[in-house]
Amino acid sequence: MSDGAAGRPWLVQAVVTGGVLPAALLAAAWAQGELGANPVGTALNRLGLLGLICLTASLSCTPLGLLTGAQWPGRVRRALGLVGFGYVTAHLLLYVLVDQAASLTKLLEDVVKRPFITVGTLAWLTLVPLALTSSTEAVRRLGYERWKRLHRLAYVAGSLGVVHFVWRAKKDRTEALTYGAVLGLGLALRVVGRWRAARQG
Ligand code: HEM
Repeated sequence: MSDGAAGRPWLVQAVVTGGVLPAALLAAAWAQGELGANPVGTALNRLGLLGLICLTASLSCTPLGLLTGAQWPGRVRRALGLVGFGYVTAHLLLYVLVDQAASLTKLLEDVVKRPFITVGTLAWLTLVPLALTSSTEAVRRLGYERWKRLHRLAYVAGSLGVVHFVWRAKKDRTEALTYGAVLGLGLALRVVGRWRAARQG
């Protein structure tokens, strides 16, 4: 079913603007001293959360398209994924450069000692090849089938991001688990969609 997505050239720009806006608001709040007693910790958490929200939204595009028949979710998937990657990279950089005072030794110690940091790092490392191959040119170079197989890793990265959040949230894990449920539902919809397509074809 077509929803006239091709006639909405503003859609991706709107998603990128809407996606980047919270970063600008966060920077402004920080500059005005509105992030509380521990601005680094607050900014770190907000960047991590914004990253997870964008990655979950990106991974929900294909299931939403399957569910509704709409084409527009597919057009914003890449932009959401890249904005999400931008947030988690800023989250990582803030942690390494400010929280850990740019000390590689301190960072490596933390990666080894605190499992939730290990998992977050693995999530970020899984996202790097996806971000590097997000262009149309990369799809052409790799061939669509190989590219598609590689980009299935997005679910691995999303799941590791959820585990990282669940592990860090010591008491109330409801919010963290909600992201896991959205990812799991989306994955289930895709599996059912493929199964149906295989039965019909
Ligand atoms: C895909 C990658 C990642 C995602 C989606 C992610 C997401 C998150 C989320 C959602 C939180 C909790 C936010 C909240 O409580 O409101 C968090 C916290 C945190 N993350 Fe990540 N993260 C990622 C990678 C990393 C990496 C690579 C590091 C460091 C090497 C890291 C270090 C931290 C730290 C230290 C906290 C806790 C901050 C505090 O307790 O104040 N994360 N992250």
